[in-house]
Amino acid sequence: MKATAIVTGATGGIGKAIVDRLAQTGFSVLALGTKPQQLSVLEETGCRTLALDIGDAGATQAALAGIEADVLVHAAGVLGPQLPLYETPDELAARLVSVNILGTVNVLREVVPSMRRRDRGTIVLLGSICGTAPGTGPALYSATKAALHSMAANLRYDLRGSGLRVCEILLGRVRTGIHEQLASGEDLYDGYECLLPENVADTVLHAVTSPPSVDLSTIEMMPTRQTVGGSHFSRQ
Ligand SMILES: NC(=O)c1ccc[n+]([C@@H]2O[C@H](COP(=O)([O-])OP(=O)(O)OC[C@H]3O[C@@H](n4cnc5c(N)ncnc54)[C@H](OP(=O)(O)O)[C@@H]3O)[C@@H](O)[C@H]2O)c1
Repeated sequence: MKATAIVTGATGGIGKAIVDRLAQTGFSVLALGTKPQQLSVLEETGCRTLALDIGDAGATQAALAGIEADVLVHAAGVLGPQLPLYETPDELAARLVSVNILGTVNVLREVVPSMRRRDRGTIVLLGSICGTAPGTGPALYSATKAALHSMAANLRYDLRGSGLRVCEILLGRVRTGIHEQLASGEDLYDGYECLLPENVADTVLHAVTSPPSVDLSTIEMMPTRQTVGGSHFSRQ
């Protein structure tokens, strides 16, 4: 029987590439997103699709009840405009927390228990260098990715001794279009050699097809010419 993979954020740049790669490799893929039209395009890969707002715990429970996944790739996320915390409107703050933090918990709540019962499964969480390096993205988005980093570590700890693997991939800039949400007016792709969604999909495939005794727990993936770090010391 084919291994089953659930991919959230499947209508996005990275998620779609992951759906393609997993479907080509022979996984039975359940692709999740919110936009029905983009989901129907994905069906050309042979995957099943479901429209779901992962911020809605009840809807997530209803949608994923009874599905036994071998792999979860959690790529759903929102970025929002480049703002400091103190200028983040409450509606945007609620959305970032709902999708990036609560949405992650809602999906894990439905997917992990059946993996535990079968003592196998690979969970891949798409994180960001924004969660570990200040100044690399919108402040609250970065905080949600810091929360994801902590969730990955705690999940791995809570699953200690089991056959389940938790892989977090902390990404630098990937050319997907998500950066339009920053509303900076700047072209962040032209002239920059960004990661491509296919590069991320290759890494995900490597992580999920590694021998069961190998857990690629934390991967940082950067464009070669993107670096973070340094310190600013302002003159008085
Ligand atoms: N691109 C980068 O440079 C980069 C860097 C670091 C980390 N990441 C992370 O990688 C992941 C994928 O990013 P991407 O660049 O592929 O972004 P993207 O193209 O904007 O895709 C985002 C995905 O999240 C889904 N989504 C948004 N709100 C949702 C909700 N309420 N319920 C369910 N799904 C929802 C979207 O579905 P619909 O469109 O159907 O609503 C879409 O499929 C994100 O977690 C992002 O934070 C990206």
